[in-house]
This record gives sequence, structure tokens and C-alpha cells, in this order.
Amino acid sequence: MVATMFFEDSTRTRLSFEIAARRLGVPALDIGPSSSTSKGESLIDTAKTIEAMGVAALIVRARPSGAAHLIARHVGVPVINAGDGKHEHPTQGLLDSLTFCEAIGRDGFDLQGVRVAIVGDVVSSRVARSAIAGFGILGAEVVCVGPVHLVPRSLEGLGCVVSHDLDSVLADVDGVMMLRVQRERHGGPSKAGSWGAAGSVGAYRAGYALTVERAAQMKDGAVVMHPGPMNRGVEIDSEVADGARSLITRQVSSGVAVRMAVIERALG
Ligand code: CP
Repeated sequence: MVATMFFEDSTRTRLSFEIAARRLGVPALDIGPSSSTSKGESLIDTAKTIEAMGVAALIVRARPSGAAHLIARHVGVPVINAGDGKHEHPTQGLLDSLTFCEAIGRDGFDLQGVRVAIVGDVVSSRVARSAIAGFGILGAEVVCVGPVHLVPRSLEGLGCVVSHDLDSVLADVDGVMMLRVQRERHGGPSKAGSWGAAGSVGAYRAGYALTVERAAQMKDGAVVMHPGPMNRGVEIDSEVADGARSLITRQVSSGVAVRMAVIERALG
């Protein structure tokens, strides 16, 4: 048995882990926000309690960055990180890499000479951190694009290039990954500042949305990705999300295969 411990909302990750486990013949128990953490029990005590019942692996999504790592230091069973705060989303990075490599014909997982843009709220994005790591390990050049407050220059420490000008980047990439602006992670008394210097959703779109017109600048064969959930009409137009370049549904499908592999490896 494995247990999915999801303390943040999820559609894709939670269900695909559950489907992956079922396909492997492994029963998956879902322990979410209705657990005794609501009565003050710590994540560690909850995890140790579940382990004591004989569960073979824990699949954890939680708001604090480092949550899965923290739990892993206190239990004896494998812990799979299903997304921790703004830090990492490793299985998403794997499924993005798999989908992208297959789509552009790099089945050998060699992305030398390939350029990928990650566009939007990179600073809040665990998906972006895992994608930068995944694409980078495979040899791609990753350029992160967005307004200064969402894509600060300090991100270059992760091994990517930073740009604030999407139009100057788009024609020269083999793939673009669009990100939602995660206003729920920006905190503060007012989230109006989330659009930052852009000032409004309209101004943000003018600078950084993948509109039909912008997508037309992309070179032949270049692909569009989005980890979801999407805000159609904000960071991406529906025509682009559902268009011929889009890998968005394939990303979701790859998620099941990738998570089967990760569970199988974790369980030995
Ligand atoms: N991509 C992703 O993590 O989506 P969910 O939040 O729906 O799991």
C-alpha cells in the first residue's frame, strides 16, 4: 500500500499518482486535509502514524517548501515529493522532460542545442524549478521570461538565462512552457500587486501572454506546454492551449507513466 498525503489542492498530480498505483496493482490510500493535522498534529507525526500502519511509501504534497524532505528524515519508508511549496515538483519535471523529448524527436533524452522558454510567475513556481533542473540536465538552454518581480535576475543561480522581453525570445525557442500567475502564493494584505509593474491583468497579457498572435511568431515544430491549472485568457489563449502546437494533454497522460515508474522504483 502507498498513501497519498495531499495538503494542497490538486487534480493532475493526486489522481495520476492514484491511477499509477492502481495500474501497478498497489492500493493507494488518500489522506488529505481531513487528517488529524487539522487538530494540531504535525506533518511528521501524521507521517509516522501512517507508516506505523504498514504503508510502504508516502506521496506528499504540502505548502511548506522542504516538507517531503523533512518527512523523509523521520520515517523509514520512501517519500515521494508531489510538490512542496515554491520549491520543487520533481515528477512534473520528469513528465515535462519526457513529453518534450518525445514531441521534438529527442527520444534519446539529449537536448543539446535545444532552447526552452519558461514564461510567467517563475519565482513562485516549483514546476519551473524542476523543469529548469530537468531540461538543464538533459542539455537544453532554459530561458525564464517574465516581469522583473516574477522573474528576478537571481533565478540565474538555478542555471537558466533571464529575460523580460517575451517577443525577443519566442521566435528562437523549440518549446515554451507557460505558467499561471500564482497570486495565492504572493501573500500580503492585497494581492492586487501580483501584476506588479504590469499593473493589471490586461497589461500583464500585453507583455507576457501566449496569444494567438504571439504563437504565430514561433518557429515550425516549436511546441507549447503548460503544467496546469491554466487560466485561459490570462497567460494563454484558448486557441493556443487547444492548438496544434500544444502538448498540454500529452503532459497529463505522461504523468501517469512517469508516476508509475517513480512508485515502482520507490518500492524496489
Ligand atoms: N501540475 C500540477 O501540479 O497540477 P495539480 O496542482 O492539479 O496537481
